[in-house]
Amino acid sequence: MRSPLKLSILLLFLFFKGYSQSSATLAITADDAKLTISKHIYGHFSEHLGRCIYDGFWVDPKLNVPKTDRIRMDIVNALVKIKVPNLRWPGGCFADEYHWRDGIGPRDQRPKMVNTNWGGVSEDNSFGTHEFLDLCKLLKCEPYIAGNMGSGTVEEMAKWVEYLNCGAETTVTNMRKANGHPDPFKVTFWGVGNESWGCGGNMTPEFYSDNYRRYATYARNYPGTPLKRIASGSNGKDYNWTEVCMKKIGTQMWGLTLHWYTLPTGNWSKKGSATSFDEDQYFNTMKNCWEMDDIVAKHSAIMDKYDPNKRVALVVDEWGIWTDVEPGTNPGFLYQQNSMRDALVAGTTLNIFNNHCDRVKMANLAQTINVLQALILTDKEKMLLTPTYHVFDLYKVHQDAKYLPIKFTSPDYVVGDKKIPALNASASIDSNKVVHISLVNIDNSKSINIRTALSGVTWSSVTGQILTSAKVTDINTFDKPGNIKIASFAGAKKDGNELVADLPPHSVVVLELK
Ligand code: AHR
Repeated sequence: MRSPLKLSILLLFLFFKGYSQSSATLAITADDAKLTISKHIYGHFSEHLGRCIYDGFWVDPKLNVPKTDRIRMDIVNALVKIKVPNLRWPGGCFADEYHWRDGIGPRDQRPKMVNTNWGGVSEDNSFGTHEFLDLCKLLKCEPYIAGNMGSGTVEEMAKWVEYLNCGAETTVTNMRKANGHPDPFKVTFWGVGNESWGCGGNMTPEFYSDNYRRYATYARNYPGTPLKRIASGSNGKDYNWTEVCMKKIGTQMWGLTLHWYTLPTGNWSKKGSATSFDEDQYFNTMKNCWEMDDIVAKHSAIMDKYDPNKRVALVVDEWGIWTDVEPGTNPGFLYQQNSMRDALVAGTTLNIFNNHCDRVKMANLAQTINVLQALILTDKEKMLLTPTYHVFDLYKVHQDAKYLPIKFTSPDYVVGDKKIPALNASASIDSNKVVHISLVNIDNSKSINIRTALSGVTWSSVTGQILTSAKVTDINTFDKPGNIKIASFAGAKKDGNELVADLPPHSVVVLELK
């Protein structure tokens, strides 16, 4: 039993830390389970940028780690565990300067190029089409390739699709066979350009839309592999881009992208540190992250006007927190640490996507390894799983589950005279009738007591898992890789037919009801 002295010390500690509690009431109706949360919302992105591909997935043959060819298998195994559904490649800005023919054939004969977007480093093209598709096979995920529209021709894009997907004998498919792959690869997710409003060609939406139609026409559907063509969409709050693309392209695309990054300061020239920030900056980060909800809602409303049957997906294929690079690292490599704050950004954003699953059918966190909001960081042979990785591990239960609408009013998280919702949540029911509720309490000091009425759910027990840490600045390091990790959560119980839980400050909790 806890001694009275220890208890008083704990209470005193909580008092000085300012811990207190607020409450929220949630309502979940299982009878309304109609929509599916696409597994592709849980997708990832790997660009030829910094140490994501080279020295990330694709390592020096001499590096002393388990490898298949030069693909690092400890990374592959970690990603298989969280069920990565798709991987976007080769960029990003890199995609619109990438010429696919440079990345096939004998590696020692591949041309070298300069990666003008990211650090001006030399690119030896040793990781190309076959290597990427081998990686996807090992990851058991679907490839999502971004074709070059910015500096490539219609013919070049058309031939890449033919190389990948055509079963008939042609000069191009004979090259694929000679390079060791007799059968078509069957790639369906196909991006037509990237950030065409910026690094992908500085186009207007009108010019882009017309060109999309041209490039997309010749990116053919080969038997058995209809393409899911994805148009390059808006820069955050540029609603006009979406309006024009919907008007001019309409349902000639499978998806339209949206890129929105969470900047701690909201300022591109001084984004803020990944590890050293005060509560004010933490609050601003979460406020900027929460904007995703409104941005997605506004783009969706425009899409609804032109596509009321929701055939075109909103594909948020770049999202995540973008901070200043780690001091002492190449500014062009975008290497940043990953804290408990990042986990809260991930949990909140994924809840937003789940709750917009009628329109958001695909999303890709930027980026998988050693770049921006990474899942994995490496240092030579060492690797660590970031707090963000653990959120994807917790949330994998939502992949392809039926979405359960959830209604609630959140208490406020208040800092000075500013406030944002402290709680966000989403829920789903899987094919075994197991309900999962993911809850994020972003308040830095207050726990939240939730009481949930569940209608149409038959359940007798609740279990849970939690990700939290003493401070939002806490990180996993190569010396202490298990600093922040998933723990079992005992703070939830059944009370009659209601679910009651106490969510600690700055925590991500996933509950399972069966
Ligand atoms: O993810 C890093 C970069 O951010 C991508 O290359 C580009 O598309 C975006 O501006």
